[in-house]
Amino acid sequence: MKKGNIVEIKIDKIIFGGEGLGYYGDLAIFVPMSVPGDVLEVEIISLKKTYGRALIKKIITPGIDRAAGDKISFEEHHGCDFAMLKYNEQLKYKKLMVEDVLSRVGKVDLDKVEISDTVGAENQFNYRNKVIEPFARKNGKIISGFFKKRSHEVFEVEENILQSQLSNEIISRIKELLNEAKLSVYNEKAHKGILRHIMVRTTSFNEAMVVLIIKGKVDSKIEEVLNTLYNENDKIKSVYVSINNKRTNFALGEQNIHLLGEKYIKEELYGIEFNISPTSFFQINIEQTKKLYEKAISYFDDIKNKNIVDAYSGTGTIAMILSKDANKVYAIEIVESATRAALKTSAENKIENIEFINGKAEEKLIELIETGNQIDSIIFDPPRKGIAQNILEKLSETKIKEVVYISCNPSTFARDTQILEGLGYKLTKVCPLDMFPNTSHIEVVGKFLKKG
Ligand SMILES: C[S@@+](CC[C@H](N)C(=O)[O-])C[C@H]1O[C@@H](n2cnc3c(N)ncnc32)[C@H](O)[C@@H]1O
Repeated sequence: MKKGNIVEIKIDKIIFGGEGLGYYGDLAIFVPMSVPGDVLEVEIISLKKTYGRALIKKIITPGIDRAAGDKISFEEHHGCDFAMLKYNEQLKYKKLMVEDVLSRVGKVDLDKVEISDTVGAENQFNYRNKVIEPFARKNGKIISGFFKKRSHEVFEVEENILQSQLSNEIISRIKELLNEAKLSVYNEKAHKGILRHIMVRTTSFNEAMVVLIIKGKVDSKIEEVLNTLYNENDKIKSVYVSINNKRTNFALGEQNIHLLGEKYIKEELYGIEFNISPTSFFQINIEQTKKLYEKAISYFDDIKNKNIVDAYSGTGTIAMILSKDANKVYAIEIVESATRAALKTSAENKIENIEFINGKAEEKLIELIETGNQIDSIIFDPPRKGIAQNILEKLSETKIKEVVYISCNPSTFARDTQILEGLGYKLTKVCPLDMFPNTSHIEVVGKFLKKG
């Protein structure tokens, strides 16, 4: 077998990460955009001793879970790596992936945990309220889009089918204006050029924040483009320029300059209007966020009169919802602007029983525990890398009975589950939830109880 060979294989299953797995003799072959039961003609694109990766050349017989159509590549599926599956089957495979990673990585006995079916979404398209697209130049024209898989080559899609219609409208207009202004595009290798990324955040009120991410400084051409964009579209409520002069893959820069309109845009959840800044985390899919928060809060036995910590709290969404019934909530968040936005929201909504703590959870939560504050329960919602190990170890020294854990990365969730189980907590319930339809990403909520 050599790179470039074309072979026929049958796909057996989907593995964690979303790729299909089939065998050619003893050789395991991973095939993106494939479905169990597919018989495919594939081209080997990389090869190791025991496994290889291949791309679909032709679908010979489609698996029964394959969505209608003959699209074969990531690009043809508008950059959605799960769009080749029918929607109900996406949910089924997401649950299987969670079970797989929990038993393989977390060493969880699946018979002893209640694992719900994946909570699906009514809207499988246009659900994203935040998009960041890199700029590139193609045939002399400024384009934006996605990076091709495992590459830094940008491909443009006519319409991004996952993001809101409003952000599609804004991004296509800003590209026209940038092309007219003849601005240069940032080149990673040379570390030269101006335009790096465009970020648009939208809300369920159909309002938008636009952040143009550039290298260099705001000059009159950029100001003119953004002024025109803002004045033409009254749904744009806030405009920033983010200056990123670093050689980095991270999009937003070190300085976010507020240029036009409001400093924050607002999103409503449970009657509370949240303030969102360019840098503050806010859940991407608002319809599913409501289900996520409801599920997570339902995992607490009873929150009345309890003192609860919301660790990794972002703009304070969960803390504010909990504060309606809890005695006191501590909200710990590392990003200063997110904590500031949360303070503004709580003041505007006259919420007085939350203590907002800006800093690292691995320091501030430890301090909170060590200073003897009464804490009854904790909810964690960390970034993809999971919960800091020292926090998990500290938990085992406390009397905190109940822990709810929201995770956007089942593999670190599984790793932390194994640690927590070793430290005296038992995973009792897990619920996968589809925050990102048509992609292989999975959100999970878990409930842990102190053993004994
Ligand atoms: C997945 S988000 C959850 C935010 C919030 N719970 C929500 O639902 O909107 C994770 C948050 O953790 C914050 N964060 C990342 N590392 C942190 C750390 N070491 N300590 C505290 N917060 C951190 C991020 O800034 C982000 O706001």
